[in-house]
Formats: sequence, C-alpha cells, structure tokens
Amino acid sequence: MERENIKELISQMTLEEKASLCSGLDFWHTKGVERLGIPSEMVCDGPHGLRKQDDAADHLGINDSIKAVCFPAGCATASSFNRDLVRKLGETLGEECQAEHVSTILGPAMNIKRSPLCGRNFEYYSEDPYVSTEIAGALVHGVQSKHVGTSPKHFMANNQEYHRMTSSSEMDERTMREIYLASFERMVKNEKPWTIMNSYNKLNGTYLCENKEILTDILRKEWGFDGYVMTDWGAMDDRVEALKAGCNLEMPSCGGVTDAEIVAAVQEGTLDEAVLDQCCEEFLNIIFQYEENRDKDAVFQFERDHGLARQIEEECIVLLKNEGAVLPLSPDKNVAFIGKYAKAPRYQGGGSSHINSYKVESALDAVEFAKNVRKDRIVFAQGYDDKEDRIDEELCAEAVEKAQNADVAVIFAGLPDNFESEGYDRKHMRMPDCQNHLIEAVAAVQPNTIVVLHNGAPVEMPWIDQVKGVLEAYLGGQAVGGAVVNVLYGNANPSGRLAETFPLRLQDTPCYLTFGGEHDKSVYAEGIFVGYRYYTSKDMRVLFPFGHGLSYTTFAYKNLSVDKKVFNENESLNISVDVTNTGTRFGKEVIQLYVAPKGGTVIRPLRELRAFDKIGLNPGETKTVTFVLDKRAFAYWNTEIHNWRVESGAYEIQIGENAQDIVLSNTVTVNSVTDIPKVYTRNSTMGEILEDPKGKEIFQKTMAQILGDNAQLIAAQEDNSGAINEEMMTAMAEGMPLRQMLSFIPGVSRNVLEELINKLNEK
Ligand code: BGC
Repeated sequence: MERENIKELISQMTLEEKASLCSGLDFWHTKGVERLGIPSEMVCDGPHGLRKQDDAADHLGINDSIKAVCFPAGCATASSFNRDLVRKLGETLGEECQAEHVSTILGPAMNIKRSPLCGRNFEYYSEDPYVSTEIAGALVHGVQSKHVGTSPKHFMANNQEYHRMTSSSEMDERTMREIYLASFERMVKNEKPWTIMNSYNKLNGTYLCENKEILTDILRKEWGFDGYVMTDWGAMDDRVEALKAGCNLEMPSCGGVTDAEIVAAVQEGTLDEAVLDQCCEEFLNIIFQYEENRDKDAVFQFERDHGLARQIEEECIVLLKNEGAVLPLSPDKNVAFIGKYAKAPRYQGGGSSHINSYKVESALDAVEFAKNVRKDRIVFAQGYDDKEDRIDEELCAEAVEKAQNADVAVIFAGLPDNFESEGYDRKHMRMPDCQNHLIEAVAAVQPNTIVVLHNGAPVEMPWIDQVKGVLEAYLGGQAVGGAVVNVLYGNANPSGRLAETFPLRLQDTPCYLTFGGEHDKSVYAEGIFVGYRYYTSKDMRVLFPFGHGLSYTTFAYKNLSVDKKVFNENESLNISVDVTNTGTRFGKEVIQLYVAPKGGTVIRPLRELRAFDKIGLNPGETKTVTFVLDKRAFAYWNTEIHNWRVESGAYEIQIGENAQDIVLSNTVTVNSVTDIPKVYTRNSTMGEILEDPKGKEIFQKTMAQILGDNAQLIAAQEDNSGAINEEMMTAMAEGMPLRQMLSFIPGVSRNVLEELINKLNEK
C-alpha cells in the first residue's frame, strides 16, 4: 500500500485504535483493526528454523512448537564465511514462513561475542562486527527476498544473559560505534530489515526501548531504517517514553494497560498525536508489505530443507587440528565412534530459539547411507552420559577397549544442554570433567584419536596435544551427523573458519575482570579491544585464532596488488590477490583481508578484518580475488567530530590465513581531507600546537620574539640545569600546557599568552 493510502487509513482511525496497534494481540500476533481491513499478523521465533507455537505459548523454549527443520545455529553459520550459503538459508526460512503464514521471523540474533561466557553466544555470529553484519545481512536478504520480514536482534549491547533485563551496558562512544553498533550498521543500511528488536538491557543507563539516540537518531536518521521497532518479549519499561524514542511495538500483549497509557498521554497533551501517527504509519507499511505479497502456494518442504541443513553444516564445520593428516578417514579403517553425541548429537541450544525438529540425523544414522563409509568397520561406545557430570568407569572402560582395538577413535564430545543456554551465562570455559577424562583415557591407548565438538562457544582443551584431530561442529542443526560423517570421510572438504577466538584459558579473555558487571552495571572497560583485536594487539598465545580453519587441500597466495599507493580518503582502493589450490582435491578457501595502521596518534587494534570472500578451487586452479576498500576500512570513530575519521598515514593491507598469521602485505598511504577545527586554550599542550602546521608557525614566531627579548635570561636558566639536554627539553615540552609558560618563560605575561591563543584560534 502506498504511503499516502496508509496515511489516509490512519486518519480514519480512532485514538484508541491507533494506540492499540502499539502492542501485541497475544504472544505471537500483532493487532489488527477489522473494520478498516488491517490484518493481525503472526511473528515467530527462529532464527535457525521456525519456532511457531500454537496455544501453549512461551518465549523460553519450554513448550513445543510445530515440527520444523532445525538448521545450524548462528555460531556455526558464521563459520561458513559464505554469504551465498547464508542467503540460501534465509530464502529457505522465508519460504517456510510463507508456508506457515508467518509474517516475520525473529532474527537474526547478532550481538557481539564480547566474552565466550555469554549464554547465548551459540545464537550469535562473531566477536567481529564486520563478520557479524555481513552474515546477518545475507540472512536478512534471503528471508526478505521471499516477502517475509526479519527482526535482527537484540539491538543493542545485549552481550550477557546475567540480569539481561535490568543491567546497563556501559561503554564509551567509540566502542559503541566501532564494535557494538557496527555489528548492525551495514546490515541495516544495505538490507533494510523490516523490523528490529530492541534488547532488554540499558545502554549507559537508558533502557534500549526508550533510547532515542539509538532508535531514532542513529537507526532511522543516520542509517535510513524505515521499518518498525519491536521490543524483546517483555522489554517494555515506560511505554510513552518508548514511543517518543521510536519504539513502535510492544511485545507480547500488554493486556490493554499501556495502550490506555498512550491514549491518556495524548489526551493530557504529554504525547503529540503526530508521534503516534508516525509510529502507526511505519508499522502498517510493513504489515501491508507482507499481506500484499503472500505466497499462498508455498509449502514446507521438510526433506529438501533437511538436505540443505546438512549441506550448510558441511561448510560450517571447522577443522581445527589435523596432525599427520589423520583426516580424512579411509573407508577400510576400523573406527570406534565414541561418545553419546555420536548417537544423540547436541545440535541446538536452549531457549527461545529451540526448534521442534521433525527428525535428527546422528553420525551413527549417517553411516547407514553416507558415501565412502563401511558401516561394518564402525563400532560404538557411549563413553559418558551428559545428564550429570560424573565419570562412569564402566562406560569409559568400554570406550577405551573399543578404541584400542580400532585403527582410529572418533570421540563425539562437547557441551551438554545445561552448560549453555539463553537466560544465564557460563561460569567457565571447561567441558564436563567426565568428557575430558574420557578423551584423555582414549588418547592414552589410541594414537589416532579425533575429537568432534558439539558446542556453541569456545571450550578449553586440556587434551589438545594428546589428540591428532579436532573438528568443531558447533551446534550444527538436525542434520549435523550426516555433515560430520561427510567431513570425517572426505565426502566434503572442511572450509569453515572460526568467527571467534578460542583462548587458552578464560583468564586470558579481554573482559575477564569485568564481565557480568556489578550492581547492574556492566562496564565495557576493554573498549574496542574485543576478541582478536585484543589478543593480536597484545601478541598473546591463543588456542586457535580468529579466522583459523584447516582444509584437506592447501592454498597458496601470490601477487597482492593495489591500484594506488597514495590516495585520499574519499577514493576507493582496489585490491587483488591470486589464490591457488596447491593440493590434490577441490576445496574452498576464505580469503581474509585485514587493515593495519602503521603509526598515528590514536590507540587502535593491531589489525582489523575489513573484507573477506570465499571461493572454491579445483586442484591446481588459480583465481584472482578482488576487494574494494573505502574510507571506512581505514577509519576510526572520532569523538571530537562524532564521525568516522581517517588519520593520514601509512596502512598495511594484509592477507591473513587467520588474524595471527599474515601471508602477504602491501603498504599504502591514505591522506585525510577532513579538517578537525582546532580550538586552543591555555591548557593546550605545546605538542598539540607544534603538530598543527599553522599552530607551529604562529607559535614559533611568538617564541622568537619573546626569546629575542630575553635571550640572556633564558641562557642563564639553561646553564643551571646542565642535566637536561635539548632532546629531553623537547620531550618534556611536548606535554606542557601553554599556561606553564607563565611560570617558566620570562617575558610571558597573561597578555602575551592571551594574544598567542587568539592568534592560534584565528581562522
Ligand atoms: C528472547 C528473544 C525472542 C523472544 C520471543 C526473548 O526472551 O530474548 O530472542 O525472540 O523472547 O521468544
């Protein structure tokens, strides 16, 4: 419906009707206005499948929803680094929504993984805002191409589960812009999500639902969002304030209470009715977009989508370690599949994203039909139980015996459900003791031990040196077993890369000392140094770096070239690099481009990921991969101009196998063309002034004049301080405020100082 017609419709609505649109009808529906033909629409959870509930509604994953297909969770899909694949996932979800008459899927969940401890990290994408925003963008694009809405969430700074409904995430402006807003920014600008879900928490003391700066000034005005904002379930605080701030829809139902508050506020004159009209217009525009593009013929294709879930997971699995090329397995090897998760995989997390999978494919199921696998060569031992963390000697002994008699042992391990979930954070990064014990016991008798991990976030691996191979399957969806078997036996060549760092220990993580916060304040003291930005800047050892992932083939990089060596910030830089598959099988490689400033006056991470691409290569094949970088790739957020700023200087363009291992680099010089007008005061330092060419000239002239008049006096002073040489003098003067000249430089009076400051500030 045209905007004009929507406006016309709103003009026919009563105040009460308009206010009623501002909250949900029930748990999963928006309200309609029957007499005006405004439909009530269903929204439903996901985002890695459909969680469509009927009567027994809840938002914590307690009651069942309709049977659906569970795709890999966000932790996994981000590791694919494959935008096309994620877009395909989005398209499929969009079709499923059309088939189920769902107008909007509540996702993607895309908060930054500030700490590995956040209970919902399994749903989120990355510690890096660029990966997060790109993968989310691909999903949003796919879903919306089917005329179904998305609701990227939780906007914003919802990086812990502890007190998520009351805690305030406290951060400085630069951190907010470069990390936490950046995770949403490109996705919003490029993909225009139909809706956004604001988070429960506060940001610097203001609940997100009431945060005008975030919901209106930044989201709508700066980024061009034109959909509607809905609250997370029960995240409403003050309804009228929230409406003024730009929050359109309160979910779920308010039982009429806050609708009445809106009506009263308009009647009392504390809320301008135009604000309410605007809110309804934004909301109805989306409602009609869906309604007018219904695909009534869509059908939920369970088997097809199950196959896609397996195919996606195959690209998400990350081969972390492969010593002596223990993988892929050859079919004639006798293999012991050990661990409960070989039979009953952990493939999704707990809470609102919990899908009622119509079937689950375990690794043991998959050996029945997978290619290049001989099921008569495979034995199984349960090894542990994941209901409680207790070492079961009998189960362990059986596993050890089977492992000993086989050529290879594959242990299916990871985190049990109660170790990570929506609603609470992890307390540590350890796997259950019983699983660590089992891995060590098996590895002690079987030199060819491989661990397959089913978990939503990094774990410590005390046994890493004792095993030959590690596959990170993450929470891989209902077809995880088939995907794992295909990777184990080489039917699929692993190509996932870590979208997060695996630190050696929790104590190494950037926010170890402050995560969770105190007194409902969580201070983001590590600032922009999140994830690899921290570890690489400190040159720290980690278990596996961001971007890491092995393949069954090898790749070589050559000819990193740039189309210009010196350019100004408004020009774009074209980069190309040749990648060759130097191994013997087809494989996919993720090309990671980092930018590293070489100097400058601003505190910055050693390097930041600014582009990536994923390509497939046959053995011996070479492809040229190209990237275009714009100003933003070199910029940081400047808090004087409240905008992105590039410092003039040298930057290295780096191609990395991961955030730690750079294989090629090339230096370019970028020149800023944006002047930050300087205002000098008596507290400006000599250093600041001398750095500015105009300031330097004026300062030197004034000094020459004063020194000329007082040369003898000054020479005498210098004689007395024989311990200080010229270099030391310069270094000390650098930080000296102008006002100190009054005390130390004879001939500088208040008048002289004022005159100097005036001259410096002259335009
Ligand atoms: C979660 C959201 C979810 C909503 C509806 C909330 O508790 O934080 O991610 O979409 O419930 O189930």
